[in-house]
Amino acid sequence: MSTDRIRHLRQQREKALEGGGSAKLADVHKRGKLSARERIALLLDEGSFEEIGMLVRHRSRDFGLEKQHYPGDGVVTGRGTINGRAVVVYSQDFTVFGGSLSETHAEKICAIMDHALKNGVPIIGLNDSGGARIQEGVVSLGGYADIFLRNTLASGVVPQISAVMGPCAGGAVYSPAITDFVFMVKDTSYMFVTGPNVVKTVTHEDVSFEDLGGALTHATKSGVAHFAMENEVACIDGIKRLLSFIPSNNADDPPLIESDDDAGRVDADLDTLIPENPNRPYDMKEVIRRLVDHGDFFEVHELYAPNLIVGFARLGGAPVGIVANQPSVLAGVLDIDSSVKGARFVRFCDAFNIPLLVLEDVPGFLPGTDQEWRGIIKHGAKLLYALCEATVPKITVITRKAYGGAYCVMNSKHIRGDVNYAWPSAEIAVMGPKGAVEIIFRKEIAQSGDPEGALREREAEYGAKFANPYIAAERGFVDEVIIPHETRPKLIRALRFLRNKVDTNPKKKHGNIPL
Ligand code: HXC
Repeated sequence: MSTDRIRHLRQQREKALEGGGSAKLADVHKRGKLSARERIALLLDEGSFEEIGMLVRHRSRDFGLEKQHYPGDGVVTGRGTINGRAVVVYSQDFTVFGGSLSETHAEKICAIMDHALKNGVPIIGLNDSGGARIQEGVVSLGGYADIFLRNTLASGVVPQISAVMGPCAGGAVYSPAITDFVFMVKDTSYMFVTGPNVVKTVTHEDVSFEDLGGALTHATKSGVAHFAMENEVACIDGIKRLLSFIPSNNADDPPLIESDDDAGRVDADLDTLIPENPNRPYDMKEVIRRLVDHGDFFEVHELYAPNLIVGFARLGGAPVGIVANQPSVLAGVLDIDSSVKGARFVRFCDAFNIPLLVLEDVPGFLPGTDQEWRGIIKHGAKLLYALCEATVPKITVITRKAYGGAYCVMNSKHIRGDVNYAWPSAEIAVMGPKGAVEIIFRKEIAQSGDPEGALREREAEYGAKFANPYIAAERGFVDEVIIPHETRPKLIRALRFLRNKVDTNPKKKHGNIPL
């Protein structure tokens, strides 16, 4: 072959590596952002990236675009490995037409999504885009729709992880929204359906980019983002850490490792962690850290609905998804946001064969007009539905309160909990003693000469009878009442036993979760 041909190929490659040019790249760096290729280099194992479609060109003939061509057309796509495991990745290049999505840019993303689905590997999208390429009109909209379809078809088949590392405007937000996890970067990334200018015109609100759709807004208020990272490097590290807990596809097992944290380790401090007074809070994250391998807990949605904790950890080297009430926030009550957060997490774990560990201390569902009018009934039902439907290994530990409907919801035996433990501090009943006696002994208390004394007496009687785990244990609703320090070894033994669990749901097209 002539050296001219090789030189020509090299020149084309070099041109593609330049993206939108050095001035635009400098601007990206000035904003504290990395380039599309720098992000891929950080994400993937060194030398593992195989680029696909480096020389793709757009087909636009309008608004002068016919004279502007950047090989690759604003998105770098390909496959590679992360800690030795195969993934596909796309990374939008803001230096080329603001990372906007053209017909061909969309085709490149769709091609790697198809690749991922056929080969059972996770899809990672690094988003940094001004949305549909305005000069292309409906053609670019069609490109988005092609991506949305693939996001939906891939859902529950391969994990899909989105990082939003710049603007993400218009319909562009809906692809990340369908994916399993959304990472955002503080101060440099935004997601909104319409930006501040349109908001001002339509609703007359003055709102900044950050307040409308910044990382903290979506991590705390809307729940759209699962993670708000300090910077891009932390964001990419977060993606790698998340991947370490999850399998590559829905036919695969989650990655098991050799753990050097003793499976028989007992922790005596757990025996005194629950306060004597049942109305005093404690930190459920402390319980989690003491139970799991090396205290290593990767929390998801940390800033959203913190009255419920969800995240990944390992027990005896095997990944688990943890769902836990947090008594130190709103007494661990279940409300709309925590129910939706929990339901989505449970469904992810169930889709990807990750066993569930539920740690329960819940006084019930949050009462009040705000919750009722906004639909706590249907939203609470999502968590119930998700846990009922899940067929992965399911273990529950009731550390303290398990009251009312929340008892049923939090992976009770009745909804196919495989192994259900309670600590001696557990209180399992329809409601707390005070509320209960005020209803069932209302007349008797009112008619007694000493209503306060009568209330106290009945409360003590109800508490002694029901504020414990033993009636549930008598019925077999808990398998065993265990001493807290025994919990870790028991969980690991249970998980090992359940490793080959097979359970199925009736054949159906799909269920109808109360959305
Ligand atoms: C074509 C675009 C573009 C777009 C940005 N650019 N967005 N080109 N189509 N959608 C170009 C700019 O012209 C500019 O080119 C370069 O990218 C950088 O943009 P700037 O505006 O200079 O950058 P910045 O000030 O950082 O602002 C970034 C931005 C803003 C917030 C993203 O550009 C913006 O608001 N863009 C439009 C967002 C939008 O409304 N998109 C359409 C949404 S509708 P030059 O050559 O000057 O460097 C949509 C529908 C999808 O997406 C529907 C799916 C269902």
